[in-house]
Amino acid sequence: MKLKKGVLLSMAAQVLIPSASVMGEVRPTRLRCEYAANPLSIDVARPRLSWVLVSNERAEAQTAYRVLVASEEAKLAAGLGDLWDSGKVASAQSIHVVYGGKPLRSRMRVHWKVRAWDREGKASPWSENAMWQMGLLEPADWKAKWVGAGGSSSVAMLRKTFRVPSRVKCATIYVSALGLYELRLSGKRVGENLLAPEWTNYGKRVQYQTYDVTDMLQPGENAIGAIVGEGWYAGRIGIAQIVVPAGPSRGLYGPRPRFLFQMEVKLADGGTRIIVSDKTWRVTTDGPIRSSCLLDGEVYDARLEMPGWDLPRFDDSRWKPVDVGPGVPVKLVAQPNEPIRIVEELKPTGMTEPTPRVFVFDFGQNMVGWCRLKVRGPAGTAVTLRHAEVLDDDGNIYTDNLRVPKEGGAAGARQTDKYMLRGKGEEVFEPHFTYHGFRYVEVRGLSQKPSLDSLTGCVIHSAVSPAGRFECSSPMLNKLMENIRWTQRGNMHSIPTDCPQRDERMGWLGDAQVFSQTACFNMDMARFFTKWLRDIRDAQADDGRYPDFAPHPFDPNARFSGSPGWADGGVIIPWRVYVNYGDKRILEEHFDSAKRWVEYVRGQSPELIWTGHRGNDYGDWLNGDTLLLDGWPDSGGAVPNEVLATAFFARSTELLSRMAAVIGRADDAARYASLAKSIKTAFNRAFVKPDGCIQGDTQAGYALALRFDLIPDARRDIAAKLMVERIKERNWRLSTGIQSTTRLMLELTRNGRNDVAYRLINERTVPSWAYMVEHGATTIWERWDGYVEGRGFRDPSMNSFNHCAFGGVGEWMFRTIVGINPDEESPGFKHFTIRPRPGGGLEWARGTYESIYGAVVSDWKMNADLFTLDVTVPVNTTATVYVPASGRAAVTESGKRAEKSEGVEFLRTEDGSVVYRVGSGKYRFVARQ
Ligand code: BGC
Repeated sequence: MKLKKGVLLSMAAQVLIPSASVMGEVRPTRLRCEYAANPLSIDVARPRLSWVLVSNERAEAQTAYRVLVASEEAKLAAGLGDLWDSGKVASAQSIHVVYGGKPLRSRMRVHWKVRAWDREGKASPWSENAMWQMGLLEPADWKAKWVGAGGSSSVAMLRKTFRVPSRVKCATIYVSALGLYELRLSGKRVGENLLAPEWTNYGKRVQYQTYDVTDMLQPGENAIGAIVGEGWYAGRIGIAQIVVPAGPSRGLYGPRPRFLFQMEVKLADGGTRIIVSDKTWRVTTDGPIRSSCLLDGEVYDARLEMPGWDLPRFDDSRWKPVDVGPGVPVKLVAQPNEPIRIVEELKPTGMTEPTPRVFVFDFGQNMVGWCRLKVRGPAGTAVTLRHAEVLDDDGNIYTDNLRVPKEGGAAGARQTDKYMLRGKGEEVFEPHFTYHGFRYVEVRGLSQKPSLDSLTGCVIHSAVSPAGRFECSSPMLNKLMENIRWTQRGNMHSIPTDCPQRDERMGWLGDAQVFSQTACFNMDMARFFTKWLRDIRDAQADDGRYPDFAPHPFDPNARFSGSPGWADGGVIIPWRVYVNYGDKRILEEHFDSAKRWVEYVRGQSPELIWTGHRGNDYGDWLNGDTLLLDGWPDSGGAVPNEVLATAFFARSTELLSRMAAVIGRADDAARYASLAKSIKTAFNRAFVKPDGCIQGDTQAGYALALRFDLIPDARRDIAAKLMVERIKERNWRLSTGIQSTTRLMLELTRNGRNDVAYRLINERTVPSWAYMVEHGATTIWERWDGYVEGRGFRDPSMNSFNHCAFGGVGEWMFRTIVGINPDEESPGFKHFTIRPRPGGGLEWARGTYESIYGAVVSDWKMNADLFTLDVTVPVNTTATVYVPASGRAAVTESGKRAEKSEGVEFLRTEDGSVVYRVGSGKYRFVARQ
């Protein structure tokens, strides 16, 4: 394999640090409604409001707030909250404050601001104004009809002209599709969203998007144009041929795409207009996009373009009237998550010509999205772009892992875009309803040698904001985190996918669950997970089984549901959202379904050991026993499935009881706490021998038992010792799979063997993270041995080079190396722990995290015998800070003895650290070693 070390183009750091406030003053900034800045479509009856307080003072906190919500900006300016004036509320709450005013109706645009009182009772100035707009809340708000092309075409173009009689005051478009759409208004693209309305369980829920097009409408004639493709709804879905070999691989939700459009216009003269999709629209399937498949790519014939098709005066007499289907019984919901967009553009770093006239571009980074092609040539010339993650030994693209059968047929992901030139001047092409996972692009069909400028790599994913940064003195670890982040970005397309390249791209809960804390450290995942947790609930089987993946386009009652460690993601992930963002509502929404899952498992677990039905029972997927390496044992790595399953049963039950406690369901809290205790007892009885050996005697078994607190406290040491012995026995290498690797790292650290964790993270032979990095990886591989020097690639039927699961170690890196840790007892970073644990030869590390309360920083360096730790704690939060030091006398803060310093309180000494509690502000601790 040739994976050249490419130029590392990191994600633009956009972590928001609010500008400093006036000395001594608290200021509310970054106003959010349902996590979003000025959202256009909220369909939550009582939205939640959050703000970030800034101040230069230490130990600053909010003691009261007042929120004003007004129906007009002028009213707000006049200090009138005609919809809601909370009055002065004595409360520290500055996140998720529930709107408590007059009922909000469809389409209402409301304006709000907030002021806060600081710890001394001094009022802040009012914040800047923010707004949110309500979506269409009632089915009756929709006047539009679902329209489409009829027949069996894959892509259709629709249009409609209309007159705007006078100046426009405001215009809003609500739009959706069963399939995917791209929207144009009088020659211009509306919005930047891609692959909208995104993937949901369409039978239960379809998202719509809202666009403010006030500035795009002109008095006089206007035209709407829409291109509608198959997408997940009517197109081919990954692994259909594996899940139900005899079933269809396309059209799993419906046979053909449909489109829904509603534009509401308010005129300056007080009049209104509504333009909706209905029988007056016209459609053609003779446009330039001949086909567009998420997996296979797009075929585009520019000779068939129809210039002006999205303008008023276009002659559409050859187009047909649309097919107005019968009403489609779906629930329309406003999109809560960030839309998919082009987030970054990459330039190729090189180009080769391994075979005459076949050019291979290298982007230096395994990325996800598509290419923008710039080309000149005679009309009809066909240029083909094939996308691949790696090269073979001859420098050709390696596509075997895309699983396209050699004998043909509808399987695999061709990831091929084909462009037929129109033949006039420079032509620019980008596909529409597809995306590819690639670092290399093979271009064929060009009449002359292209320049590097011919291709631009458009990086496409759900446009979730970055939240965390990680940097340390080890270039390898920096590269590893960079790879983790790229992998996360490559697997966020409306849902967290397992991989972005082969014909799979499913929202596997097991992978997402082990990666979820890393995901939250790296990016602001609240909205993304809010949406996906709905997908999970929508795919729950009737008997309570959570799905193995969501959305579940097959029948969740029949198959691919209820597997240990996968289905448990349905409990673990909402808990993560709560811990990271203080989101109680998500627990309220999710609790009943989580309870049904736990009850289902209880039913499969006589004597509280999960011996009954375990779905596909993947176990500790990709554990050490699956590696094909010379001299590597093929047994002893896999924790027995029954042990893993029962461990997850205990974990989910315990989390369920904690959820119940948070949302005030005391009976359930007690009931499930007691059940969790009984499962632990059963686990110990069934699987733990008197000498502490856990059945199977695997690294993974100890890691899971320790992580899920299954072992009585007095016996944790034995389990940790045995875990380390099993690592040592493997010559200090891992035999764990995706469910246990990160958990093992965290438990080594927690149980006093941070030295072993550092040894593993620095290990360079396979299986290890550094092996990937040092063999050219720019994303995390699915398998430890996806490629091995001398042996080559693993079995192409399952060998992705862009898989999140083993990247879960990012959580350990944030928690341990830079030491940023949320506190489950005080969620949303209201209180958190800064506990860097230097080791592994590191000299310094710096982490920042943009929490829902504001920026958290932990930045340490070791210099001769001095350890320096810079910490930032957001206003209205507190932190417990561990400073590695010989004793309290050895620690200063900003030059003073630490415990005498403002905002710092000495708590205790513990395990070679002095522990302080600090209020908000910036601190510099220095400790003599
Ligand atoms: C996916 C995994 C997933 C698994 C289920 C694979 O094909 O890529 O990441 O969790 O199936 O075992």
